[in-house]
Amino acid sequence: MCGIVGYLGKDDVISVIISGLKRLEYRGYDSCGFSVYDKKGQDLTLKTVGRVAALEKMAESLDFEAVCGIGHSRWATHGLVTEKNAHPHFDCKKEIFLVHNGIIENYKEIKKKLLERGHKFVSDTDTEVLVHLIEEFFKGNLEEAVHRALKYIKGAYAIAVISKKDPGKIVVARKSSPLVFSVEKNRAIVASDPTPILPFSDKVVFLEDDELAVLTPEGFKVFDFEKKQKIREPQVLDWTIEESEKGGFSHFMLKEIFEEPEAVENSIRGRIVLDEGIAKLGGLEMVSDKLSKIDRLILVACGTASYACMVGEYMIEENAEIPVEVDVASEFRYRNPILDKKTAFLAVSQSGETADTLAALREAKRKGLLSLGVVNMVGSSITRETEAGVYNHIGPEIAVAATKSFISQLSILALLTVFLGRQRNMSLSKGQEILGALKKLPDLMRETLKENDEKMKNLAEKYSKYRNFIFLGRKYNYPVALEGALKLKEIAFYIHAEGFPTGEIKHGPIALADENLPFFFIAPKDSVYDKVVSNMEEVRARKAPIIAITTKGNSELEKIADDVIYVPQTIEMLMPILNTIPLHLFAYYMGNILGCDVDKPRNLAKSVTVE
Ligand code: G6P
Repeated sequence: MCGIVGYLGKDDVISVIISGLKRLEYRGYDSCGFSVYDKKGQDLTLKTVGRVAALEKMAESLDFEAVCGIGHSRWATHGLVTEKNAHPHFDCKKEIFLVHNGIIENYKEIKKKLLERGHKFVSDTDTEVLVHLIEEFFKGNLEEAVHRALKYIKGAYAIAVISKKDPGKIVVARKSSPLVFSVEKNRAIVASDPTPILPFSDKVVFLEDDELAVLTPEGFKVFDFEKKQKIREPQVLDWTIEESEKGGFSHFMLKEIFEEPEAVENSIRGRIVLDEGIAKLGGLEMVSDKLSKIDRLILVACGTASYACMVGEYMIEENAEIPVEVDVASEFRYRNPILDKKTAFLAVSQSGETADTLAALREAKRKGLLSLGVVNMVGSSITRETEAGVYNHIGPEIAVAATKSFISQLSILALLTVFLGRQRNMSLSKGQEILGALKKLPDLMRETLKENDEKMKNLAEKYSKYRNFIFLGRKYNYPVALEGALKLKEIAFYIHAEGFPTGEIKHGPIALADENLPFFFIAPKDSVYDKVVSNMEEVRARKAPIIAITTKGNSELEKIADDVIYVPQTIEMLMPILNTIPLHLFAYYMGNILGCDVDKPRNLAKSVTVE
């Protein structure tokens, strides 16, 4: 996730771009830059590592009367956080400038061809190939060249492109990444969200997937990728700037829960080869041989990420047949784990900076283990200190509570299961079954959100008087129960919640069961469903309120539970992804009802960099 701004008009172009980028910094801020040109066709590009304030400082002393420009605030996906990797990127002649938000999956193939044709690259980014490709097709008409170039691109993008050789226009296009623009009163402005636009206009056009638009001060034209013009009327937006940062949601946490389907899409994009039933994890390629020889895997993390690891343990042991051990990092670092060289160590961390996870990683390395990471923050400490790894590619997560990162970690662990399994005994059809189900998941997640958002809100109202909750799940859904309980106690801070493996209730939690303690059962139609139902009956007999999450079409729980939440069917190992969604919504709404600061729960931090 990055922030894009483009501006064409009579205001001070550089200031408009900088103030727009500042508003988009929440989307990512490891480096930033802008490119502008003036009436005479002279251009200027300024880039820096760090936040937009640093760029603003550099621009203060400039004497440049720009008429058009584009800017970008970066959240690295390919290539380290360096000035040369910051956007905008430009062609060999420095006549075409481009900013991009997204991932170009096939950039390696395209780059190879462009290098053969003599193009010179200055960065390690996937983005730079696109501007050189546009250069290849440029014959004086920018939109024509962009249109032709995009035909070769696989992946996700929102782009804004300008050229000194075809001045007075900004060409924009979108596939999967957001882009919105406004053309009014002789000024055209485009951005990743409406926040940079709102100070100028409330009439905006949200570009849709597979659309390209040409913006000039006089007007705009929208085309589909077949070059057919489309009629798009601007809509009036009554959002405040704050609401618009949150995409119209009241909190980042809710926005990020609604981004969970997209998080899976971003994490699996370009990593599934369905025909061959394999997961292509570029970051593990160089250790692929070593991984094929390991006979044990240790997954280590903290908080929510450690629950993702627990699901990973079930996934990998059941399908890839490698013994897996999960440990919370704060324990791993102080016990005496018996490790040998055929064990690999995998740290899972959204931030890549969690002190305990980092310390555990160092301990594993000291003992000579192959060290790997699943991390969201590119260039973070864990990515620098591991031998290899996989990025989540989900953009920044702003709310303190991990939501979309948990879901993304689950999808990557599913990919890893196939990666490791196919190196061993996993059949082609099994690989295809898992990957096929993973591909279909984002749509099922959207369905789950749509059908349960209002329900979970009502349910939170109904149960808001209770101060204790028990969450139960079995096998793949035991960690989901832990996640449901953790999220509730983090977000709704008067509430005490605990998670247990369902089968354990008779060894303790059942003693608490009475009408004052609601029990959440995660009970999909899976291999342990019947056992879970027996436990549910035991709780029912003690008159405790029961909320059950189960598979759509399974109405029998209506007779036992007070409330039943339905999620669609997928394969057993991926059910945690669907079952977590209502639990995240429940915690969010409960926190909201109780008046908690849901995005910044008391006493908690997003990244815990101390022991
Ligand atoms: C903190 C956050 C949690 C997160 C945990 C691990 O406790 O509040 O949301 O799950 O750290 O963070 P990491 O960045 O390592 O995934």
